[in-house]
Amino acid sequence: MTSNPSPGPSGRKDRRDLRRMEQDALGAPGIPPTRVAAGATAFRRALLGLHRRTAPPPVRILEALFASFDSHALRALIELDIPDVLTESMTMSELAHRSGSDFADLERLIRYAAGRRLIKIDRRGRVRPTGVTRALRSDATAPWRGWVRFAASDWFQASWRKLAPSIAKDSPGAFELAHGAPFFEFTTRVDPTAGDAFDQAMTAGATLQGIALARTLDWSNIASVCDVGGGRGAALDVIQRYYPWMNATLFDLPEVVAHSGFDNGAESPRRKAIGGSFFEDIPAGHDRYLMLAIIHDWDDAQAAAILTNVRDAMGGAGEAVVVENLASKHPRDDFATASDLLMFVLASGRERTRGEYSELFGVAGLRIEEERMLPTGATAFTLRDAAQASELSR
Ligand SMILES: C[S@@+](CC[C@H](N)C(=O)[O-])C[C@H]1O[C@@H](n2cnc3c(N)ncnc32)[C@H](O)[C@@H]1O
Repeated sequence: MTSNPSPGPSGRKDRRDLRRMEQDALGAPGIPPTRVAAGATAFRRALLGLHRRTAPPPVRILEALFASFDSHALRALIELDIPDVLTESMTMSELAHRSGSDFADLERLIRYAAGRRLIKIDRRGRVRPTGVTRALRSDATAPWRGWVRFAASDWFQASWRKLAPSIAKDSPGAFELAHGAPFFEFTTRVDPTAGDAFDQAMTAGATLQGIALARTLDWSNIASVCDVGGGRGAALDVIQRYYPWMNATLFDLPEVVAHSGFDNGAESPRRKAIGGSFFEDIPAGHDRYLMLAIIHDWDDAQAAAILTNVRDAMGGAGEAVVVENLASKHPRDDFATASDLLMFVLASGRERTRGEYSELFGVAGLRIEEERMLPTGATAFTLRDAAQASELSR
């Protein structure tokens, strides 16, 4: 590792550009400190818990079922291109005209979306863009419409319909029951349109995690970073905007890196894409290996195999950063618990507790050097080769 000349953006214009990028990506004035973000999440969870606990059982059942209407409403908003059309406040009839919709029918959808705080109808009855509609625009810095294209799609919904059969003893997973292929084979080889939606969804999340990582971790000694399973390279794109001198290597399946803005590195190693499988061979010799939302896709044996391959690629000198949402010991109405069921439906993975991660890292010969909670709510574990670390401490 070499020491970088001056970590962080140098000029005033660079800093201004970064602030603007953060605002656009977050839909908020800036990224909050981790403690503030965690406090806000805990407060919202407490309010939600109160809301749920005070509902009589029939109301609770209906509310749980009706919650799925949101995903249909979001899909309809995207299909009608409402976020792009709604550039400014406008009357319902203007919106209907510009989106080529029937006035009365569109009004029903917009009223539902306004009730769910996805869109706004002001006192004069004008429809107004919101942070949500801006995040769903086709030119958004973090393309959240990808999540709608992914999670509201027919193929995604079909996998959920196989939840109960997949729980039967010795049954294949829900995704395979629905589509006859494992998730990543389906997205890369069977249905590239589904893959495009999935990769766009991942780009939205990776943009936020990239900002959080750039702002939270120390990058001053990192000359080269490799994003393992880095999708289309959104996290690296963002991190390189903060630390432009850094060489970045994107590693993912060949079909995925083909759609990134990274190339084969022939001109310069600054933005290099390598297609391959992390179960086989991971590019060696980088200072830092990122794994964002990778380990949770896989069962313990597969996850340990990926981590072991990363440890080998580190060659004793580098470090790995695993970013995941930690599961709580007791069930909670939170992102990690929902994501755990999502991992069950789509893949063979799971969300894990801190203890389970620590054990898994140990199996792969890695040791936790640092653990940081990010403002996104995810946890970043910095890992080193356990054998090397104990040699150094002797
Ligand atoms: C949940 S996504 C996370 C993507 C990105 N790290 C992020 O945080 O948005 C998992 C990624 O792992 C990649 N992947 C799946 N199997 C892989 C394999 N065998 N080798 C390399 N990458 C793989 C997928 O293509 C996908 O980009």
